[in-house]
Amino acid sequence: MAGKKVLVVYASRYGSTGEIAEEIAEVLRDVGVDVAVSNVLETERVAGYGGVVIGSPIYMGKWLPEAVDFVKNFQNDLRRVPVAVFAVGFSMKEPSETNRESGRAAISVIRPYVHPFDVGIFAGKLSFDELSPPDAEIIRMAGVTEGDYRDWDEIAAWAGELEPLFKDLP
Ligand SMILES: Cc1cc2nc3c(=O)[nH]c(=O)nc-3n(C[C@H](O)[C@H](O)[C@H](O)COP(=O)(O)O)c2cc1C
Repeated sequence: MAGKKVLVVYASRYGSTGEIAEEIAEVLRDVGVDVAVSNVLETERVAGYGGVVIGSPIYMGKWLPEAVDFVKNFQNDLRRVPVAVFAVGFSMKEPSETNRESGRAAISVIRPYVHPFDVGIFAGKLSFDELSPPDAEIIRMAGVTEGDYRDWDEIAAWAGELEPLFKDLP
C-alpha cells in the first residue's frame, strides 16, 4: 500500500489496553492502512509515520506515566501528523457524563503537548487474579467488582471513524 503508515502505540499494565490497540489496528488494516502496533516503552521513533494513535489505561485517575512521557518526548513529531488518543478505565463500564469527564480529565495532562483530533474513552477489564499485591489492595479497598467490560463494537466503530488517518489512501 503506497498510502501512509500509521503507528498505534499503547501503555498497558495487564494487557487489556494492548488488546484494544490491536483491535484498532485491525480496523485500520481493514480499510487499507499500513499499521504498526507497539508498546510506548518499545517505541523509539514517531517520525516517518503519517498518523499516530496513542492509548493508555487510567490508574488512580491518570494515564500511565510512560504514555505521558511518550507524548512529551515526541511532541515535536506528534504536532506534524494527525493524532488520536484513547483512555481505558474501569469506571467507563457505566458511561455516565461524570465518568466520561473523569476519562477526559485523565488525559488533560497531555493537552499542552499534543492536539488530538479525536479522543476515545473506553471501558476496560479488571481481573483480580492478575493484579500485583499493591494493585489488588487498592482495588479491594475501593470495593470494585471484576469483569471484562470492553465493548469491541464501540472500539471498532471509533477506529472506523478515524478518517484523518486514512483519508488520503487511494
Ligand atoms: C490499581 C488500579 C487503579 C485503577 N484506577 C482506575 C481509575 O482511576 N479510573 C478508572 O476508570 N479505572 C481505573 N482502573 C481500571 C483500569 O484502568 C482497567 O482495569 C484497565 O482496563 C487496565 O488496563 P491494562 O490491562 O492495559 O493495564 C484501575 C485499576 C487498578 C488495578
